[in-house]
Amino acid sequence: MRYLKYGIAAAVVSLAAASVAAVAAEGNPVVDRKAVMQSVGAAAGLGGGMMKGEIAYTPAAGKAAIATMNAAGHTFGALFPDGSDVAADTTAAPKIWEDRAGFEAELAKFSGAAHAAAAASGKEGPADIEAFKASFAPILGTCKSCHEGYRVK
Ligand code: HEC
Repeated sequence: MRYLKYGIAAAVVSLAAASVAAVAAEGNPVVDRKAVMQSVGAAAGLGGGMMKGEIAYTPAAGKAAIATMNAAGHTFGALFPDGSDVAADTTAAPKIWEDRAGFEAELAKFSGAAHAAAAASGKEGPADIEAFKASFAPILGTCKSCHEGYRVK
């Protein structure tokens, strides 16, 4: 059962990554940034599940979760062009466009933690769950403050 769960979670991450690639071609920044965040959510679910012991840890899965976060850190900031604040289906807060420097600072915390985790994860991924936690927990620690400041429910 544990391995079954792991397989599902890993499939979710790769599906999310594939959907990011697919929508990126359409060039709709709202669709794109939501897809990036969905991949971040899937990676958080996989990584968080392994940290809680609900999903069996493997270095490859740890590496995949970190790589998804790192990729999101590279692409997310470019998906908030002027005019994309008024879309009906966005939960991005107007504050992103009013205080871009503050938003970029939140993004830098996320992408910095993800980049450090990727650099530490090596070729095979973090060797054990303790090594994974040390890298992944700081990434998870950056979600809340950005959402509280720059997202509306
Ligand atoms: C730099 C700011 C920032 C950080 C850091 C961040 N998010 Fe987000 N997130 C956003 C914004 C802005 C949206 C709303 C995007 C929209 O609706 O246009 C969002 C939306 C989401 C969504 C909903 C996507 C959808 O389909 O509408 C999920 C899930 C999500 N974030 C998960 C996370 C998780 C998990 C983390 C931490 C690992 C995280 N986010 C870190 C800014 C951030």
